[in-house]
Amino acid sequence: MAKGVYFLAFVVLLSTASSLVFAEDPSPLQDICVAIDDHKSETAVFVNGKFCKDLKYAEAKDFFFPGLQNPGNTDNRVGSNVTAVNVDQIPGLNTLGISLARIDFAPYGQNPPHTHPRGTEILVVVEGSLLVGFVTSNTENRLFTKVLNKGDVFVFPIGLIHFQFNVGHSNALAFAALSSQNAGVITIADAVFGSDPPINPDVLAKAFQLDKNIIEELQKKFEY
Ligand SMILES: *[C@@H]1O[C@H](CO)[C@@H](O)[C@H](O)[C@H]1NC(C)=O
Repeated sequence: MAKGVYFLAFVVLLSTASSLVFAEDPSPLQDICVAIDDHKSETAVFVNGKFCKDLKYAEAKDFFFPGLQNPGNTDNRVGSNVTAVNVDQIPGLNTLGISLARIDFAPYGQNPPHTHPRGTEILVVVEGSLLVGFVTSNTENRLFTKVLNKGDVFVFPIGLIHFQFNVGHSNALAFAALSSQNAGVITIADAVFGSDPPINPDVLAKAFQLDKNIIEELQKKFEY
């Protein structure tokens, strides 16, 4: 009986560990696996849990995205715009564990504190100056921060909260690569104050050590 329980505990532990190991993009098991929505069509094959376009129908345009020279519209409440180029824009990125983004900043605009649950980010500033930073997890909550100028590169490790703020009075432009075909984004303020349905304000009042009416004001601002 006891042996059975130990075995069960071992199996549970093992499956937890392996699901942690595979939380990031797996390595590809084939050269290319162009993502395809319609898996019922005869142009699709099933490889390693993903639907891929049959190799003989893959073409250069599956690996191509035009238009990253166009700035995103920064006329919004944070003054920035992220143009993502991930597997949704380039189906050929499927299983390759990499993607790209263009980030435009109005003067004093910012890409507010957010995390990418599935990818590390490496960013290069192409125009202007950005104050950037990331914070490590709860053991220290240490801030790593720097002002970047044109040509400077900074890394934001997977999962950590980070931000970019345009400290110049002209537009700024950066490009970022991410170690996932779709790294995901959790914008902290939107997730916490703008969830759908809203988190009970008593929870947030205590968590942020604020008055409940301030929380309710914030929730109105971030309403989904
Ligand atoms: C980002 O820019 C694009 C292109 O101008 C626009 O369609 C989109 O609404 C913008 N997003 C935000 C959040 O402002």
